[in-house]
Amino acid sequence: MSKIKDIKAREILDSRGNPTIEVSLESEDGIFIDSVPSGASTGEREALELRDNDENRYFGKGVLNAISNIQNIIFKEIKGRSVTSQKEIDDVLIMLDNTDNKSRLGANSIMAVSLALARAGARAEKKELFEYISLISNSEIRLPSPCFNVINGGRHAGNKLAFQEFMINFEGLKLSEQVRMASEVYHKLKEIISLKYGKEGINVGDEGGFAPMINDAKETLDLIVLASKKLGYLNDLKIFLDVAASEFYNKDEHKYVLSKDNALEREELVRYYKEICDIYPIKSIEDPFDQNDFEGFKILNQEMLGDLLIIGDDLTVTNIKSIKEAYEKDSINGLLVKINQVGTLSEAIEAVNLARSYNYKIMVSHRSGETVDDFIADFAVGLGADYIKSGAPARGERVSKYNRLLKIEQDL
Ligand code: PGA
Ligand code: ZN
Repeated sequence: MSKIKDIKAREILDSRGNPTIEVSLESEDGIFIDSVPSGASTGEREALELRDNDENRYFGKGVLNAISNIQNIIFKEIKGRSVTSQKEIDDVLIMLDNTDNKSRLGANSIMAVSLALARAGARAEKKELFEYISLISNSEIRLPSPCFNVINGGRHAGNKLAFQEFMINFEGLKLSEQVRMASEVYHKLKEIISLKYGKEGINVGDEGGFAPMINDAKETLDLIVLASKKLGYLNDLKIFLDVAASEFYNKDEHKYVLSKDNALEREELVRYYKEICDIYPIKSIEDPFDQNDFEGFKILNQEMLGDLLIIGDDLTVTNIKSIKEAYEKDSINGLLVKINQVGTLSEAIEAVNLARSYNYKIMVSHRSGETVDDFIADFAVGLGADYIKSGAPARGERVSKYNRLLKIEQDL
């Protein structure tokens, strides 16, 4: 039996230059490192990311209190336990925190320990991380199909585009082919944007997609279609949108503000989605309505009759309570999974298993603030997830996940 010998935690920087937590968990087999991402368009019901709020350091964003929680509270409690007791130790973390939203210890400190523990557990069992996750979650190993973010808007970019993420997908082909085609479309898109909008159009947003000064989704979709067509990939192209509608919903006026002079009522937005789904090869829309507008989700879901993959993110926050509510209200047919929305690996697995029992498609996701940690690649493979999104096919913190998938594909 391999036991937890030591845990060290430190502040490192994420891809936006904000502090986050990295943990080194030492067992008899070695030292296992993991780190925590951070969202910008976070859902109201997500677990709490503990920040110091000390304006003298990192403008209040320091994570020294979360680190102290790891070293002084969590380590004391789990020291000497077997690294393969993932569920048991995750339950201890949940009990130690003892709040609904991990607000005492912070979901960031809990997640860092939970994931480093899984890495140690895999080694103790002499398994690859994805094999170990498959074992503990009772899932079949399968390579997910990546959704590559090529245009950024919303909170992730400095342009006026309301929709947050425009992703391309080539499901059904060999993974390495999907990666190649996405990379080629990304570069072709760069050329097209540069010609049409000038060099300033090819600046990138938080997730590595381009952020041209466009405010119209149709104009954006036209660019993606054109780039794919020029390469002969249009027949294989599927577009995934994460519109992240909570970010452009005006609660007082009950309107979705797509641009300065275009604010839509819920029913008008339903019609708009149906229109773009008719024109473009759109396979999926994530968070099409505000996180409390269950009615909007339901109308779209019922009118599309399963032809559109409607994914819940801010709506469901990887939390079984919210997923159950979404199911009862017929809101979605797909679940986005972000471990830091809930805290522990075991809770994230539980959310996936519940969603599966509803026949939902599963998409594993990064956050807009990332590190080069590639845990989610193994997580997606071990869970047999349908899809993974990790941003553009560019930038170190985004491609670390895709590159890990390429290695797994070769080894399988
Ligand atoms: P976030 O964005 O990490 O900023 O929340 C990702 C998403 O909304 O899916
Ligand atoms: Zn989202």
